[in-house]
Amino acid sequence: MSEVLKALKERRSVRDFTDQPVSDEDLKTIFEAAAFTPTARNTQAWHATVVRGLDKIALLNDEVKKANQKPGYERYRELAATKSYSINFHKAPAFVIVGVDSSKTDCYIEDGSLALGYLWLAAQAVGLGACWINQLGTITDEPEFRAYLTSLGFPPTHKIVGSLALGHPTKIPHIPTRHTDHYNVVG
Ligand SMILES: Cc1cc2nc3c(=O)[nH]c(=O)nc-3n(C[C@H](O)[C@H](O)[C@H](O)COP(=O)(O)O)c2cc1C
Repeated sequence: MSEVLKALKERRSVRDFTDQPVSDEDLKTIFEAAAFTPTARNTQAWHATVVRGLDKIALLNDEVKKANQKPGYERYRELAATKSYSINFHKAPAFVIVGVDSSKTDCYIEDGSLALGYLWLAAQAVGLGACWINQLGTITDEPEFRAYLTSLGFPPTHKIVGSLALGHPTKIPHIPTRHTDHYNVVG
């Protein structure tokens, strides 16, 4: 089987991590690969803010939980209110927030999602593990949360498409069942 097909099949959502930090070298490697993400009309209008260290991620987690309690952000209110909820499973030593400048492309969700997919696969290729975390997108433009994001260097014109909890896996999780009926062929 080709290396690419093998990598596609082996990528997993990792939710348990060792204490080992994510190195600059690994970040460089995965972002070099993700630079090849295709984007609509090659706009490449995506950017990621990487938050490293449990203390900094805990602060971000507090902001995410706080924003999700505000009126208008009900989608994750209940989930984010639970004590056990944490954007990095209380463990991942890095957290990657991917945003796209939605004024530059009609396809910001598509472009950002592909970038996340590339990052996720590249992370696994260097021995890291990741899990998409969905609870930041809806609160991107909540004013207090936006101010916090800006303080992290997240570009003010970008909208969050998704994020990844990132670190060294304790183990590779089992493969969730997959459907095999995703296509039909005509002709
Ligand atoms: C758009 C998207 C949003 C997701 N959001 C979350 C999330 O917020 N929390 C979480 O634990 N997993 C999340 N996941 C991971 C999925 O649950 C996971 O991909 C799925 O169960 C299949 O498992 P696998 O990635 O190991 O193949 C998300 C995945 C995608 C693609």
